[in-house]
Amino acid sequence: MNRIDRLYMEMIHFYQDDPKHIQHFVKVHSFSRLIGQAEGLDEKQLYTLEAAALVHDIGIKIGMEKYGRSDGKTQEQEGPEAAREMLTRLGFQENVIRRVEYLVGHHHTYKNIEGLDYQILVEADFLVNYFEDGLDQEHIKTSAEKIFKTETGKKIVKEMFFPEAFQKSETWAQDALQDLEDFIEEQGIYIRQ
Ligand SMILES: [Fe+2]
Repeated sequence: MNRIDRLYMEMIHFYQDDPKHIQHFVKVHSFSRLIGQAEGLDEKQLYTLEAAALVHDIGIKIGMEKYGRSDGKTQEQEGPEAAREMLTRLGFQENVIRRVEYLVGHHHTYKNIEGLDYQILVEADFLVNYFEDGLDQEHIKTSAEKIFKTETGKKIVKEMFFPEAFQKSETWAQDALQDLEDFIEEQGIYIRQ
């Protein structure tokens, strides 16, 4: 098992008896990896992003235990230290740990997103949260227009929640011609060409 997979197992252990939170980070990790690869992150960036995605919500449990709350701010406040402790124990390099701490500490901050890894983590978290929080299409659309920047993230959000947007853009011209032809036939109009 490589180090990322050991971290994966460690996070499953951390969230034992809490399948909802385990399934959440599994999905955020999977979308992060996919978008990261498609957007051309190098090996080190992808490795750091994967580690960050696995631990990004580590602060939820800490916040609940300490204060009985897990809002975004509490997560950002409590997450980095716990992430550092876990990554250090598993032998991650200092520069990776530092970036993961930063990402865990900012993943609910959507202003001044700096770095493609940060942008991708935010997009992956939104892709999962739109579904898990049961947001309606209108809210998803407004939010997605503001949040999504990568081509891959935009494609996934459209495929998953707005497939009609693709259908329209790809075949609308052909559909319009077919409609006109049907109309002409219905009306029995003969057009000399
Ligand atoms: Fe999350």
